[in-house]
Amino acid sequence: MPTNADNTNAPRSIVSIADLSKEEILSLIRLAAYFEERPNSKLLDGKVVATLFFEPSTRTRLSFETAVNRLGGRIIGFSDPAATSTSKGETLKDTIKMVANYADLIVMRHYLEGAARYASEITEVPIINAGDGAHQHPSQTMLDLYSIYKTQDRLDDITVTMVGDLKYGRTVHSLLMALSHFRAKFNFVACDELRMPEEFRLFCDRNGIEYHESKDFSPEVIADTDILYMTRVQRERFTDLMEYERVKDLYNLEASMLDAAKDSMRVLHPLPRVNEIAQDVDDSPKAYYFQQAKNGLYARQAMICTALGMDIRI
Ligand code: CP
Repeated sequence: MPTNADNTNAPRSIVSIADLSKEEILSLIRLAAYFEERPNSKLLDGKVVATLFFEPSTRTRLSFETAVNRLGGRIIGFSDPAATSTSKGETLKDTIKMVANYADLIVMRHYLEGAARYASEITEVPIINAGDGAHQHPSQTMLDLYSIYKTQDRLDDITVTMVGDLKYGRTVHSLLMALSHFRAKFNFVACDELRMPEEFRLFCDRNGIEYHESKDFSPEVIADTDILYMTRVQRERFTDLMEYERVKDLYNLEASMLDAAKDSMRVLHPLPRVNEIAQDVDDSPKAYYFQQAKNGLYARQAMICTALGMDIRI
């Protein structure tokens, strides 16, 4: 297919999955599929992308940086804020204003909820939120949606079971909002301490989204599932580590538990995992989390080009 890349669209920040309409989400998925076929398209010649990671990351940072490298752009940035002038007391505002002098796009992960939105309001350079506290992780959501689309051959009418840390897990919050466009049904499996927050349950109520809550990770729930979305209990977000110790091992998936699942069911996890998915699950054809992480490369290539305002006709 012929491709035409120019800058006819305005550059734009992607801070929350709510910033994207259903059509824009579908367009990003089509673009991700395009890049999966052509990951080395040299569309970013002359562009500099800054990756500012104020919190640890393996997949998100490396896949964004791989995405830029494969598209022919250049990378600046940091993965350890202790090695920057933040450690001398420089504010986030000043850091963003400085980096905006050097880069065409800023990809940013920060421990404070709302940090990416704040950054987007103090610079004209587009910001992609690579995770802000327990709030949002829109690029993870795009790769999750692309993974769902690839494994289920559709996005509509999927039953998604989310298990584990539904309180602090920003990926489940973003995914829930994105799937509201596609008539998803949800099972939320969590203990009281890690229950899906009220604001997201209200979001479901307001948008007519069916959901069931359970503390029991039962075979019946697994049998009812198209996408089993496991999550890590987010130790770094607890103020009371005794509470973390009480809840950290409540939900563990083992291979034998998949016997009840549909053949088409797939296990997703944003990763990193700790012990919520046993190693024996990795050998199951239903395990999809490593391919899911690979899909992040293509989803992020699509987001980078969109944030830079590139009009790619496919
Ligand atoms: N899923 C995810 O955000 O992984 P990293 O923390 O390794 O980037």
